[in-house]
Amino acid sequence: MAQRHDGFGVHPSIPFAAPDGRGSGSVPNNMDAFWMPFTANRQFKKAPRLFVGAKDMHYTTDDGRQVLDGTAGLWCVNAGHCRPEIVKAVQDQVAAMDYAPAFQMGHPGAFELAAQLSALLPTGMDKVFFTNSGSESVDTALKVALAYHRARGEGTRTRFIGRERGYHGVGFGGISVGGIVTNRKFFGPMLAGVDHLPHTHDKAHQAFTQGQPEWGAHLADDLERIVALHDASTIAAVIVEPVAGSTGVLLPPKGYLEKLRAICDRHGILLIFDEVITGFGRLGTPFATDYFGVVPDIITAAKGLTNATVPMGAVFFKNAIYDAFMTGPENAIELFHGYTYSGHPLATAAGLATLKIYKEEGLLTRGADLAAYWQEAAHSLRGLPHVIDVRNLGLIAGIELEPIAGKPTARAFEAFLRAFDKGLLIRTTGDIIALSPPLIIEKDHIDQIFGILADILRDLP
Ligand SMILES: Cc1ncc(COP(=O)(O)O)c(C=O)c1O
Repeated sequence: MAQRHDGFGVHPSIPFAAPDGRGSGSVPNNMDAFWMPFTANRQFKKAPRLFVGAKDMHYTTDDGRQVLDGTAGLWCVNAGHCRPEIVKAVQDQVAAMDYAPAFQMGHPGAFELAAQLSALLPTGMDKVFFTNSGSESVDTALKVALAYHRARGEGTRTRFIGRERGYHGVGFGGISVGGIVTNRKFFGPMLAGVDHLPHTHDKAHQAFTQGQPEWGAHLADDLERIVALHDASTIAAVIVEPVAGSTGVLLPPKGYLEKLRAICDRHGILLIFDEVITGFGRLGTPFATDYFGVVPDIITAAKGLTNATVPMGAVFFKNAIYDAFMTGPENAIELFHGYTYSGHPLATAAGLATLKIYKEEGLLTRGADLAAYWQEAAHSLRGLPHVIDVRNLGLIAGIELEPIAGKPTARAFEAFLRAFDKGLLIRTTGDIIALSPPLIIEKDHIDQIFGILADILRDLP
């Protein structure tokens, strides 16, 4: 008979001491068990980088250093870290009611947050579906697009059109419409019937553009070619990030999103903007739809929604989409989709407190005030060794480095490690450095970010 055990203590925690001697020893940690996401596990575990605290613009490392947050965590801590009002709202909520069933039951916070969000959204887009992440928001948007067409008697519309280099999270729907090869090639055939637009980035025409490139609106015309190939009657939706973030900051050429909108309208195709990164003030407007003046049918969001305090995503729908489901008997469930934690009370409490801060401090438009300063600081890196492009919009910047021959990603990753050692958190994807600080950033933080980066670039191998 197998020996009985209580399930605990089989893998005793080992005191934390990184092999390179870093670390205070105060963080007990068995580094073996945790399979880290999107991380070089073996490399990380040899020389771990651990945060143990955070406040406003800074993280604290396990060895007590302050690290300036140049990436708002992962594009998500838009109001800065550990804001007391959000902390208290979550604490109060967890003490009052930890959880309420999401299906056939409700709690006030979810309705209140949805109502406040709908006030931020374009006119006629008032319906909010809660998820727990950007990936779930994307899968929700895709599923609803299919079901919407079916509800209207156009069930042949089953194809999705994504875009090369797009990032839409890691669900099967998201990687199917996404266009980053490493996120796709390991995972089989994915969703059937997906096609992709070309990405919009072309260094020959766009390098070192400040803001939106002039060149490239015609790339949207490829959608007409794809429609002609498959026939509009088979296409449910087009999904794009208004500004592609995770792939390394690719900006929409002037007029490009407008063209996509017009082509979708012409053919009865839904347009989905994945605003998981651009939502909640990143471009200096509440959403990218406001910045570009192009209104999609569906917007996916997450990240800044709760200032990342509690995981939460949301999908915003035009009213006509919701209305298409509100037929049939009133006692029938209209949409067979949802998550145990859709509209979780802690997340809605965090979301409401976050929106209050955004409003009181004007954070959803603060990026507009700082964008020119940010742009100038980012482009000051032009001319430094290895820098082959700088691009920016709102409070986003991408700095592309010439890859080391035969070692793609190595140069940018070395920059990331050196930045961390010098007290700055940046993010790299391929050989591109992506920056997206909390929206509470001050000008002297901007100077620090680009000052540290300039120092690093001057003697980067
Ligand atoms: C545009 C976009 N969509 C979806 C996602 C996935 O979000 P999550 O990691 O919360 O699933 C991300 C994450 O960075 C994103 O940038």
